[in-house]
Amino acid sequence: MNLVVVSNRVARGKANEPMTGGLAAALLPVVEKSGAIWVGSSGRVRDGALREPFAEIEALGAGALAMLDLPAAHYGGYYEGFANSALWPALHSRTDLISASQEDYLSYREVNAFMARALLRFRKPETVFWIQDYHFLALGAELRDLGVTQPIGFFLHTPWPARAVIEGVPHHRELIEAMLAYDLIGFQTQDDCESFLSYVQSNLGLDVHDGIVTSRYGTSRIAVFPIGIDPDNFAQQAAKAVSHPDVSRLRRSLNGEKLAIGVDRLDYSKGLINRINAFDRMWTLRPALERTASLLQIATPSRGAIEAYGNLQSELAKLVSDVNGRHGEVDWTPIRYLNKGFSQTVLAGLYRTAQVGVVTPLHDGMNLVAKEYVAAQNPADPGVLVLSKFAGAAKELDTALLVNPHDIDGMARTIATALSMPLTERRMRWEAMMAKLRARTIQHWFSDFVDALQETRIGRRAAEQPTAEPPELWPRRSANGARYH
Ligand code: F6P
Repeated sequence: MNLVVVSNRVARGKANEPMTGGLAAALLPVVEKSGAIWVGSSGRVRDGALREPFAEIEALGAGALAMLDLPAAHYGGYYEGFANSALWPALHSRTDLISASQEDYLSYREVNAFMARALLRFRKPETVFWIQDYHFLALGAELRDLGVTQPIGFFLHTPWPARAVIEGVPHHRELIEAMLAYDLIGFQTQDDCESFLSYVQSNLGLDVHDGIVTSRYGTSRIAVFPIGIDPDNFAQQAAKAVSHPDVSRLRRSLNGEKLAIGVDRLDYSKGLINRINAFDRMWTLRPALERTASLLQIATPSRGAIEAYGNLQSELAKLVSDVNGRHGEVDWTPIRYLNKGFSQTVLAGLYRTAQVGVVTPLHDGMNLVAKEYVAAQNPADPGVLVLSKFAGAAKELDTALLVNPHDIDGMARTIATALSMPLTERRMRWEAMMAKLRARTIQHWFSDFVDALQETRIGRRAAEQPTAEPPELWPRRSANGARYH
């Protein structure tokens, strides 16, 4: 098998460099070992005809990393536009934030089509394509249009919302029909799977039997593959990282006070405003907890060109300063708020230093910070995870303290409980979570999906020989988008 993995963001990753993408950081170690070719954006754009699109191809473990310059004319409409101003808010049930023009949609489709043409150079008879995430919902259909008959799988890292929510996305029907070109579609949770199947049955009128959908493309299997981490490796990293200078400095600055930690991309789906309000409420209701426990909140800037993200950044900065102003003392800062990224190595050490991990998104596909916080703990004296019941991770980590991120008082009480939990209970909860992490690692996720993809090709034609010459890479289609409705 020749595996080709595709995602918008790739990781060139060294453990000591900052990484913002949960997906990219999670995929790196497994893709590296698998010998796959990983194709994604170089982070640069280029004008003009792209007959030779790859800026760089470099070795990655036993395989390769191919980083592609995306077409300049369509990048904004694709990334900031349709992917992150229509799909992302809808997938996180924020229909109020959906905004995308027809041009954005056309750009999204053009980038999907561009990526499909670029992928032909990696196609061999035995190739298996595995496409990641909402940036490329239509990539499978584009590959099929180019005559690709090899297995193509898709995994969604975000949640999949209820029908009424996805109906808020312009061109939802066309996109979801296009998704059925994939042989296997993987989701993080059973709820996501069910919401998708409900749309397929009710809106597209298609038959579903045992998770198999039959469409004009043939059959697609829809299944759950919860993404994991490498818990033992992360634990080792955390144990070593406690002596990292940043981590030592943090420890020294604590003066015996307890620490809660939150680490998120600065995104409205992460529930950051509610979290800060919950800490505010906790210190207001329980003044005795002032000075005895603080919050370290890392909020890494993300998608800054999108208005909703800029607004959130200002709102959050104002709220943190207000809470610090009211509860702080000359020698005590309640919330240490940092707008920058940290390497995995440093994060592992910070997680181990904190007695409480707060992971309270309003909606989240999985949330690997929750899993990493657990894995980083000292088995003899583990911290407590406070976890939103709307994160995919809550389905597995059910011995965390589960909270409703909309219930500020409830979160305030739960965080206070976490800060004073006795060792026996902490150990019991942590051991149960660690066992779950070990039972479903990132290696299981990767091989389960690839195995299932290879087995899933019911009703699809056998792989054909690649075409001798890949078609012209750009532009293939007129800019008026006549092909799309
Ligand atoms: O949740 C989907 C996801 O791919 C995450 O894995 C990742 O943290 C985030 O989106 C990356 O977004 P971006 O590439 O826009 O920084």
